[in-house]
Amino acid sequence: MQIKNIQTTAFNDQRPGTAGLRKKTKHFMQAHYLENFTQSVLNAVQEKAAAVDQNSELYNKPLIIGGDGRFFNRQAINTIIKLALANGYKQICVAQNGILSSPAASTVIRARQASGGFILSASHNPGGENEDFGIKYDVENGGPAQEKLTERIFEISKNLTQYQIADIPDFNLTTVSTQTFANGAKLEVFDGLNDYVNLMQKLFDFDQLKALFNSGFTLRFDAMHAVTGPYAKKIFEEILGAKSGSVINYIPLEDFGGGHPDPNQVHARKLIEFMYSDLATDLGAASDGDGDRNLIVGQNCFVSPGDSLAIIARHMQACIPVYKNGLLGVARSMPTSQAVDLVAQKLGIAHYETPTGWKFFSNLMDANKCTICGEESFGTGSNHIREKDGLWAVLCWLSILAYQKKSVQNIVQDFWVEFGRNYYQRHDYEDLELSKANELLANCRTQLPSLIGKELGGLSIAQADDFSYHDPVEGSITSKQGIRLFLKNTTSTIGRIVFRLSGTGTTGGTLRIYYELYDREHLDCTADEILQNLVLDTRKFLKLKELFGKEKADIIT
Ligand code: G1P
Ligand code: ZN
Repeated sequence: MQIKNIQTTAFNDQRPGTAGLRKKTKHFMQAHYLENFTQSVLNAVQEKAAAVDQNSELYNKPLIIGGDGRFFNRQAINTIIKLALANGYKQICVAQNGILSSPAASTVIRARQASGGFILSASHNPGGENEDFGIKYDVENGGPAQEKLTERIFEISKNLTQYQIADIPDFNLTTVSTQTFANGAKLEVFDGLNDYVNLMQKLFDFDQLKALFNSGFTLRFDAMHAVTGPYAKKIFEEILGAKSGSVINYIPLEDFGGGHPDPNQVHARKLIEFMYSDLATDLGAASDGDGDRNLIVGQNCFVSPGDSLAIIARHMQACIPVYKNGLLGVARSMPTSQAVDLVAQKLGIAHYETPTGWKFFSNLMDANKCTICGEESFGTGSNHIREKDGLWAVLCWLSILAYQKKSVQNIVQDFWVEFGRNYYQRHDYEDLELSKANELLANCRTQLPSLIGKELGGLSIAQADDFSYHDPVEGSITSKQGIRLFLKNTTSTIGRIVFRLSGTGTTGGTLRIYYELYDREHLDCTADEILQNLVLDTRKFLKLKELFGKEKADIIT
């Protein structure tokens, strides 16, 4: 195998964001761009391994590669294989057809004790030649690389002068096979479903779920033409016996059928409308581009992600065999609704609040501090892997429904009666002039102390800060993670407004404003009704119209 050393010029924009490096696909396709980034990752990983152990087995351990099937997926996989071979990796494992969901990649990395893996995805961002592409590197625990490593990748990328690549033709990834090269290196094309499906069978009581479907229970799962289609078809229809046709849009397409594979009230509107119609099934669910997010909706009952996390945490010990010994603790990202904290308090277990992004949960899970974690952005997962897991969340809900023998709506209402209700909304202002958005946050930071006592939506600001996270496991501090305004009525703190800038967008800046108000008495209002005044006052207070010319948010979820 001929190895070529290619001289290259460094790019200065390869800093990974909340979940890996994301750019427009064409940006990724420019000469040397993907190669440079891949080489920077490989160098940083090698450096990290050598720092721990000079004789590290890095190159003899498997390296896993797969993606969500979007445009440029296969081409990028071929490039990464060639770089990995040239850099000395001896066991490269690529999912068949390049299709591997993020949770499945995490599963495979852990099951095979791999050194890590490349996941090619821009998650819920649209795909296609004119849309988005992304790369994420997961480390040996199957979780996203921590900031220390991603920052090192960025440093290396800024000074990179060459990369190594094997000079060989592209590979056929369509059939499960193993190919051995003259230097002893192996390329294995593996079935991307097996390990994941096996793991789900170990966690959940599949006989109970089969009995549920056998009794006439109906499901509609929308795979949004993204990566979970084949997994969902296999698990729900083939194994559990859901009626054929329960899984829709199940063929992964390079452009997700022109849609936006983000399972929320905006992009999964059709599914939600269906669940509010006479045709509704008992459960409706969807997941995103790379299969780590989930949406749960019952008949006439959309379940907000914060409630879904809290409800799963509330019931999982009783309803899901693998959690029967109880939970170690729960964790949520800071902007996520605090409903799950109430469950933790009742269960007498710890609850953690982390910055946005799944990587912050990994340390807690590795240190056995938490069993379940989640984010308001439709992400839920547990310590079975180190990525969030869309289908796992759906299986949790199926298990709860099978055990409780109640409708989704009844389960949600019972929860509110028990714990009160956290009314919640996220408002996204997209494609903003980045400098102006940064300035807005910087200004707010300097004003924080003077905000105490200010009124918004009839409530007053009791406390104002910029969230800083002290990782209880490794001791690191991550600051500037979002401005928080805590709100109180006459007697107690009952809510929050949080705002921060997105770290996953590919153009301009996205401002996310998160609203949350807790109510013990009014359980049947809409979030709009409860949050309306607060939203109107916050828009005025932040001068969003003057700054960005926007009357209201582009997306409300
Ligand atoms: C968004 C979500 C965050 C999630 C991330 C990756 O990041 O808000 O919860 O972990 O996507 O799926 P953001 O764009 O807000 O930085
Ligand atoms: Zn995703």
